[in-house]
Parts: sequence; structure tokens; C-alpha cells
Amino acid sequence: MTARDDSYPVADIEARYPFDVLDLPRYPEPEMLARAQQFYADMDGRRSVRAFSDEPVDRELIELAIMAAATAPSGAHHQPWRFVVTGDPTVKHEIRLAAEEEERINYLDHRMNSEWQRSLAPLGTDHHKGFLDTAPWIVVLFEERYAVADDGSKQHHYYVKESVGIAAGMFITALHLMGLATLTHTPTPMAFLSRILDRPANERPFVLFPIGYPAAGCRVPRLQRKSLTDVMTVVEHPNADPTAPTQAPEHDAR
Ligand SMILES: Cc1cc2nc3c(=O)[nH]c(=O)nc-3n(C[C@H](O)[C@H](O)[C@H](O)COP(=O)(O)O)c2cc1C
Repeated sequence: MTARDDSYPVADIEARYPFDVLDLPRYPEPEMLARAQQFYADMDGRRSVRAFSDEPVDRELIELAIMAAATAPSGAHHQPWRFVVTGDPTVKHEIRLAAEEEERINYLDHRMNSEWQRSLAPLGTDHHKGFLDTAPWIVVLFEERYAVADDGSKQHHYYVKESVGIAAGMFITALHLMGLATLTHTPTPMAFLSRILDRPANERPFVLFPIGYPAAGCRVPRLQRKSLTDVMTVVEHPNADPTAPTQAPEHDAR
């Protein structure tokens, strides 16, 4: 029943590098289904928040979300990410002013073309970013484009955007599951974040996350998420027995 593949790692490799036995929990199938359903329900309740309360949030929660995100897989395990955290009102304000300046050009001076702006219209976004002052924390996730060794030489990273994107998703998930809200914010171009946060040349801003509790009565756009059939394609050998794919009911994003 259990598939075995004894060829990994080959003896020669194991003689040279350390390996551990994987200790992954195995749940009874009904429990797996219940866990999967609960996780989907939890994640379906995640929303991007653009109106925050100024209620303080313990820094330990932010640190734990970063630790969770930093468990993400990465190309060659180079972990090419840096989470830069600030709760300093002066720094947050400087970020707000610089973000609003870039977004003013995006929205009002039409650096975003009209097609883009039409897509954004139902979200009600504009160049005002007051939430960057209000949210108790801002975390800017930087992608590390390459590492710098002690002798100053550059070490190449692999699949940086893919790796950092996965870490970003895990960060958002961790925050949501602990009851915090965030926004995936990209006030592009984001070079001002390197300047304000004093980051080195090998790091590039990837996403800015304001983090906190939603403001009282916080409202979010009514969005529809794609159904399972819209996002999943099953490929089978033409002669295989056709088995009906599961079809999830359509649902409203909350
Ligand atoms: C890469 C990326 C960049 C985004 N940039 C912004 C942004 O700059 N400002 C903003 O208000 N929302 C931004 N969003 C949030 C999306 O608008 C939001 O995820 C989408 O409307 C779906 O809503 P939901 O997150 O509530 O499900 C961004 C999302 C992603 C994935």
C-alpha cells in the first residue's frame, strides 16, 4: 500500500551530507477531510483590509508570523527574503507620504493606464494611504536578489520571486489564522522603501504589509472567487476510466 522509494538519498550523498528521518503526522482520512474543510473555511474568510484600527498588536505575533513565513520552501534553500518591521510612527508616516506620492502619480497622473484603473474601480482604492499611519505595524518583505559573502563576492539565488511569493502567501496565512488583518500593498515603484528603511543594494522591495486589527465596521469590496472548475483542470489518460471531478459550490467572498 505504502509507496517506497529507497533510492533517495543515494548512499554516496548520505555519506557526505546529513539527512533526517521525516516525522510527518498521519491522520485518519475523516480527520484529514475535516481539517481540509476547516482550513478552506478559514482561508475563505481572509480579506484584504484597507481600514485599520490603531489598537496595538504584540510584536511577538508579528515575529511568529515571520517565523512561519520563513519556513517556506525556496530555490536551493537559499531563503532569499528579509522581513523589515517597523511600528515607529515617524517611519510609518514617512512611508505613507512616499507611498502616497507614488500612488498619486499612478492614479491621478495616469501612470496606471485606464484599463488598469477600470479593473481597480470596484475596489475603491485611490492614492490616499492613511492606513499606513494607523496600522500599528508595517512589514516590508524584501527579496534578496543575491547574497553577499564575507569577502564581498556575490552568491547567486535561484527562483527568487517564486520563493518570496510563497513566503508572502504563508505570511498572509499566518496573520489571518491568528486573527490579524493585512493588505498586500504594492505602491509601485517601491524604491522609496529601500531608502527609508536603509536596505542594502542586494535587496529589492517585494510587498508592503500594513498589519493590525480591522477598523470598527471595516468594509471590504464584495468579491466573487472563482469556482473549483474555473481554477482546476484534471488531466487523465484518454483511455482511463472517467471519474467525475469534485465540484465545489459557488460562493461569495466574505
Ligand atoms: C501582488 C499584489 C499586489 C497588490 N497590490 C495592492 C495595492 O497596492 N493596493 C491595494 O489596495 N490592494 C492591493 N492588492 C490586493 C488585491 O486588490 C486583493 O487581494 C484583491 O482585490 C482580492 O481581494 P482579497 O484579498 O480581499 O481576497 C494586491 C494584491 C496582490 C496579490
